[in-house]
Amino acid sequence: MADVRPGSPTAFEALVDDYDAARPSYPVALYDKLGDLGDCLELGAGTGIASEELATRCRSLVVTDLGPKMLARGLTKHAWPGVVCRAEALPFKGSSFDTVTGAQMWHWVDKPAGPIEARRVLREGGRLLLWWNESLADGQAWWDRQQDRLEAGNSRYRRGYRDVDYNAQLGQWFDTTPAEDIPWERTLGLDLYERWMRSKSYVQELDDVEAFIAASLADLREAFPDGQVVEPFVTRLWRFTAR
Ligand SMILES: C[S@@+](CC[C@H](N)C(=O)[O-])C[C@H]1O[C@@H](n2cnc3c(N)ncnc32)[C@H](O)[C@@H]1O
Repeated sequence: MADVRPGSPTAFEALVDDYDAARPSYPVALYDKLGDLGDCLELGAGTGIASEELATRCRSLVVTDLGPKMLARGLTKHAWPGVVCRAEALPFKGSSFDTVTGAQMWHWVDKPAGPIEARRVLREGGRLLLWWNESLADGQAWWDRQQDRLEAGNSRYRRGYRDVDYNAQLGQWFDTTPAEDIPWERTLGLDLYERWMRSKSYVQELDDVEAFIAASLADLREAFPDGQVVEPFVTRLWRFTAR
C-alpha cells in the first residue's frame, strides 16, 4: 500500500496539550529490541514521548521535529539538543549518527527525500529504526463504529492507512529485516480517551469534530460502563541497516 496522509503534518502544533496528555507511549519491550543506539538522531520527536527512553539508552541524542511547539514541549522537560527541521532536509553533516529513529512519524515523510537524508546522516552500518502503535480493537463495536465514522467523515482516512510495506519502500537504500510486532494494552479514563481522539490530525479534518467525539464517547460508555477504556495495541518495529 502507498503512504497516505489523512491529515496535515502541521496539525499537531495546535494540539500539543492534548497530544502530551493523552498519546500512548511505547512498551519497554520495544526499546529492548533496539540494540546499541550510539549517537542517535530522533526524527519527528514531537513532545518527546519516545525521547525519554531513548536518552537513557544512547550515547548522545538529538531531537528534531518540523513543529516548533511540539518540540518545545519536550524541551521544557529535558535538556536534549533540539532542532526544528524536516526529516527531508536535515541540517547535519553526513555520517554523523549511528542510529536514526522515527516513532509514529515516518508516514509523514516525503519519499525519496526522507530516506536519502536518513541514509546520508547515518554512518556505514548505521540503523534507521521506525515504529508505530496500532490499535488491535478490530471487531469491538465501539472501535469499528469509530472507524466507520472516520472513513465517512474524512475522505483521506481509511483504517489501516499505515499498513505499508516499509521494506519495499526502503530496500533501495537499506538492508531490511521483517517487521516485528510487540503486543500490549493500556487502560485510560474517558476524559483522556477524548483528549487522545482530539489529538489526532485526521480527527481534526472531520467536518463535525464535536459530533464525532460525542458519538464515539457514547459508544465507549456503553462498552466500558466503569469509564475505563481497555485498548489492545501492537507496536510494530521496522529495522533498516545502511549499506
Ligand atoms: C504523530 S506525531 C509523533 C511524535 C512522537 N514521535 C511520538 O512518538 O509521540 C508526528 C510528529 O511528526 C512531525 N512531523 C510531521 N512531518 C514531519 C516531517 N516531514 N519531518 C519532521 N517531522 C515531521 C509532527 O510535527 C509531529 O510532531
